[in-house]
Amino acid sequence: MSKIIDGKAVAEKVLAECLEDIQELKNAGVTPGLAVVLVGEDPASKVYVGSKVRKCAELGLHSRKIELPVDASQEDVLAVVNELNDDPLIHGILVQSPPPPQIDEDAIVRAIDPAKDVDGFHPVNVAKLTLEDASGFVPCTPAGCMRLLKEAGVETSGAEAVVIGRSMIVGKPMALLLMSKQGNATVTVAHSRTKELAEVCRRADIIVAAIGMPEFVTADMVKEGAAVIDVGINRVDDSSAKRGYRLVGDVAYDEVAPKCSAITPVPGGVGPMTIAMLISNTIKAAQQSMA
Ligand code: GUN
Repeated sequence: MSKIIDGKAVAEKVLAECLEDIQELKNAGVTPGLAVVLVGEDPASKVYVGSKVRKCAELGLHSRKIELPVDASQEDVLAVVNELNDDPLIHGILVQSPPPPQIDEDAIVRAIDPAKDVDGFHPVNVAKLTLEDASGFVPCTPAGCMRLLKEAGVETSGAEAVVIGRSMIVGKPMALLLMSKQGNATVTVAHSRTKELAEVCRRADIIVAAIGMPEFVTADMVKEGAAVIDVGINRVDDSSAKRGYRLVGDVAYDEVAPKCSAITPVPGGVGPMTIAMLISNTIKAAQQSMA
């Protein structure tokens, strides 16, 4: 019964909309610019940062990639952020998470000009999301999940939604979006200390899994006909795979999919949407900089 939500196709649709806005901005003399800062050598982060910069080039956006060594100091990172805050050609700044342990990530996020915080992590943007002030930036991954639900025709209004995970990047903003006037869902946020998690999940019309545990959500936790959004990207060892690992989500896809009305695959579900929403936020930052 399940409908596989094609994140790549929806991301392409979002990016096609972006292209029109980019052209309009260029006609007005502004090329949207994104700066991506990578501290250290985390292999997954390197891949993500590479794809973000490549996508900018593909769409004709200005971009800067700033790589700092794994032993960079807090002051080094703050100096880069301050320089980017002052760079008129840069409208969006993203510091890839997680940074190495000597870096105080909260302090870095607070140093980013909220008007350039295209990740939506700065307290000003967190407040704007809570207040449903549309001038703020919504974190890319949950914004992408909302768009996927919409494009798949999943009704959120009045639905029971369970978000598994309470991170600032996904779980908390996802819950805020689902409960907002845009989502109108009844939202439960479950996490590692939740009692009777399976029972809580079984109530859900919509499950958003964002806990970073491979194949955590199993068929017994999912109500027949539920819609499932899988935010997880986990590497699990697989000696039969060329790279020695394969990617799996937070949902045990093969057993859960047959019960769902709609489900996102991994890869090809939420992943492509995150970059699309980042580009969309960068365009919004450029537009707002002209006002
Ligand atoms: N690491 C994983 N997801 C994200 C994201 O959306 N933004 C940043 N800056 N780092 C991440």
